Order: sequence, then C-alpha cells, then structure tokens
Amino acid sequence: MDTGLARAQAQDDGFAQALTAGLARAPKQIACKYFYDETGSHLFDRICELPEYYQTRTEIALLERHAAEIAGLMGRNIEIVEFGAGSLRKVRILLDAARPDAYLPLDISGGYLATVVRALAADYPALALRPLVADFTRPLCIAGTARRAGFFPGSTIGNFQPEAAMALLRRMRGTLNGGGLLIGVDLVKDPARLHAAYNDAGGVTAAFNKNLLARANRELGADFDPDGFAHYAPYNPAAQRIEMYLVSLKRQSVQLDGRRFDFASGESIHTEDSHKYTIESFREMAAHAGFRPRAVWSDAERLFSIHWLES
Ligand SMILES: C[S@@+](CC[C@H](N)C(=O)[O-])C[C@H]1O[C@@H](n2cnc3c(N)ncnc32)[C@H](O)[C@@H]1O
Repeated sequence: MDTGLARAQAQDDGFAQALTAGLARAPKQIACKYFYDETGSHLFDRICELPEYYQTRTEIALLERHAAEIAGLMGRNIEIVEFGAGSLRKVRILLDAARPDAYLPLDISGGYLATVVRALAADYPALALRPLVADFTRPLCIAGTARRAGFFPGSTIGNFQPEAAMALLRRMRGTLNGGGLLIGVDLVKDPARLHAAYNDAGGVTAAFNKNLLARANRELGADFDPDGFAHYAPYNPAAQRIEMYLVSLKRQSVQLDGRRFDFASGESIHTEDSHKYTIESFREMAAHAGFRPRAVWSDAERLFSIHWLES
C-alpha cells in the first residue's frame, strides 16, 4: 500500500504573495484556505468538537443514518475522492459502508494530511490509499480512469461566493469519471444559532482566525501582534452568510516581506465567508454546475443537509 503523499503543485502555496496582495487592498482580505497550516487544521478539529458547532455532529449523524442508502447510490467498484479531507473522521463511515477500491484524500494542509493518513492506514490496512496535497481552487488533474464518488463534507462549499462555488463544483465534476458527488451543505437558519457557532464561548474559533496572523509570523517573518486584533464573525442576513474578520484594536503597523502595512483602529482583514443555503437554492446551484441533484438528507431541525449529485 502506498501512503506516500503526492503533491499536485510546488511546496509554495502562495501564502506570502496572497497576504501581501490582500493587505494592500481596501478593504484588506485573504482567502480562507490560508487558515490551514498544521496548527490551523488542529484548531479546526477542536471547533468540530464544540457544543455550539452543530455542523459536524449533525452531518456525522446523517451519514451514519443513511450510510447504506448512500453506499447503494455510489455503487460498486468505485474510488472515493475527498476534497478538503481534514481529519478523515467522516469518511470512515463511507469506507465501512461503500467498501471502495481506493480512497484519495485531498487537502492543502500537507503535514496534517500525512499524520491523519498514517492513522487511517493503521485502521484500514487493506485499503488502497492515495493521498494528494493539492489546492482544489486550482485546476485539478487526478490520474486514473476509475469511476469516482466525490466526497465534500463540512460545508466547505460555503466558503465560496456562489459563482466561485459553481466553478469549483464543475472542476470537481471533471475529476469523477462519470461518478457522483456527496456534499454536505449548511442550511439557512436562526441567525442566533449561526452566530453562536462561529463565536464560541471558549474562544476556539477566535484562536483559529488569529492563527492566520501567527502563521504569518512563523512562516513569513511578519510581526503581527495577535492580541492587537479581535475575532469578529457577524451573520449577514441579506447575503445569507457568516463573515469572519480580524479587527485591529488600535492604530498599528505590521512589517511583512520588507513592506509596511498600516492599520487604522477598527480596520479589518476579511478572512472568511461561510454561505448558507436552502435545500432548493443549493440544488439549483448544483444543477447550474452541471450535476443532476438526486437524493438529499436532512435532520429533523433542518440544520444541515447532505446531497447526492450525479454527473
Ligand atoms: C471546513 S474544513 C472541513 C474538514 C473536513 N472535510 C470536515 O468535514 O470536517 C476545510 C478543509 O478543507 C481544506 N481546504 C481548504 N481550502 C482548501 C483548498 N483550496 N484546497 C484543498 N483543501 C482545502 C482544509 O485544509 C480543511 O481540511
């Protein structure tokens, strides 16, 4: 079994260039994929355990309840490719139910992926594992012609503006060799519930957000003062999304890559969006991306949904 990590692109993930370009813009911004170095991935795992973060436990319960039906839809002699695989916790339910010929976990967070793949390989010694360190916002080429079931849980699709989300779905569809995509999508709901999920009492989401600054200090030699910024994550009801910011608590300057970036007191860096959908609005978007939306599963409270989309 080969559990060696294949890399789809050079080691440099463009963090330095993205951050300097993003800090030079008004308003300041950076893509949320840069949250995920090894520390960021571990912090995200802690978010998944939070009582306020209903998403993970709701999606796992749905996967467990409907595993046999999902496996039937995926069919036999398939490979499972997971986009933004993270901890690999949820896919175990599918591995047990669908018994794929191979599993291809893909993630941008290479060090963390190596660790969780080792643990999975120990628990599934007969499984053909082909991990891939890749950025799914770039052109995706995954070698092989076997029919694939894509798996994209965690409502990561919500991190993209609708146009970019459609482009991403199209790109993923192009890797499936005619197979379908199983995708988890967080639903529009009471804003108070959403607000609590992204503003947990223990401050773990705040630490996750601020890790971006700590990462810039570690990797790029920047001199951010993480305590000089506040985590701010309001719900924007018109856009149906949580927006995440780091807000400067004072007038300050930061040195990065030989350049100085000034912050006014109250000025922010936009670090993430998390769009929420209705079941209908998501199915419509998936259809525009070229999929045929088929089965959909949701919990009794209509907090979260899982969709099976056919190519
Ligand atoms: C919201 S977490 C979801 C993790 C896991 N799939 C789950 O459902 O709990 C997003 C995951 O996608 C990965 N990721 C984010 N942006 C990515 C990108 N552009 N390319 C590849 N992986 C990415 C992160 O490293 C992280 O593991």
